[in-house]
Amino acid sequence: MDINAKTAIVTGASSGIGIDFSQALINKGATVYGLARSTDKLKRVRQELGKQFKPVTMDITDHDAIEKWINKTFSKDHQPDILINNAGLGRFADVEKLPLDEWEAMIQTNLSGTFYMTRQLIPMMKEKESVCHIINIASIAGKVGNPKMTGYNASKFGVRGFSEALFKEVRYDGIKVTCFYPGSIATSFFGDKDTDTHDNMMQPEEVAQVLINVLETPDNFLINDITMRPLNPKAPEDQ
Ligand SMILES: NC(=O)c1ccc[n+]([C@@H]2O[C@H](COP(=O)([O-])OP(=O)(O)OC[C@H]3O[C@@H](n4cnc5c(N)ncnc54)[C@H](OP(=O)(O)O)[C@@H]3O)[C@@H](O)[C@H]2O)c1
Repeated sequence: MDINAKTAIVTGASSGIGIDFSQALINKGATVYGLARSTDKLKRVRQELGKQFKPVTMDITDHDAIEKWINKTFSKDHQPDILINNAGLGRFADVEKLPLDEWEAMIQTNLSGTFYMTRQLIPMMKEKESVCHIINIASIAGKVGNPKMTGYNASKFGVRGFSEALFKEVRYDGIKVTCFYPGSIATSFFGDKDTDTHDNMMQPEEVAQVLINVLETPDNFLINDITMRPLNPKAPEDQ
């Protein structure tokens, strides 16, 4: 795909890799609708990235609100080419201590939110003559289970299954589906970015470069999943 002049939707665009995805897409000439719940943070992103970034205050667990926004924003002459299902959260605790609301937030955001966005945009993408691309941001936790990660693992294994089934379902409609399985990335996902991350995590802009590479593949060439991790994940002080 030539990204120039394409229309993209990035969920979770108010922080972390969502900002870098948006920046990388805008650098390539796309217009980006950036969705997240925090209006103030989105406003700051808009100031940083400029008018090609369209901030949209949206809770992706709210199916009706997504539907209203899509109907208001897109039409036969203006349809999205790219959907990046990136919004997500992780809450980590022993299974008997994991609060119900944290389990539900992970399943609702990471898994159901991905489904809600996708199911409402697929009909428009099917109508498009040109190839469209959906990229779902799972995690290594979509492939490997670990202690204290039951809820996060369940949600991301769900994204993995959803992505594989979707890829097979829509490939003949000219829609590419790719699932990303990243290891640790230096964002505020784990808490305070400055204290809870280290230099041996992947950097958001590196992951964004992979996103661009995957989008720019030729139309009949699909990378349907991609695992990425730091070569040496240990913090410099632990070497
Ligand atoms: N960082 C890592 O090491 C890592 C590794 C593998 C995979 N991932 C995945 O990468 C994705 C992005 O994470 P990140 O590291 O960039 O974390 P982050 O900095 O915490 O960003 C998460 C984004 O998701 C948005 N979000 C959360 N709940 C939402 C909701 N209900 N509706 C709309 N937006 C919502 C947040 O915005 P608001 O709070 O403003 O809504 C924020 O923009 C997640 O899916 C995460 O699971 C991260």
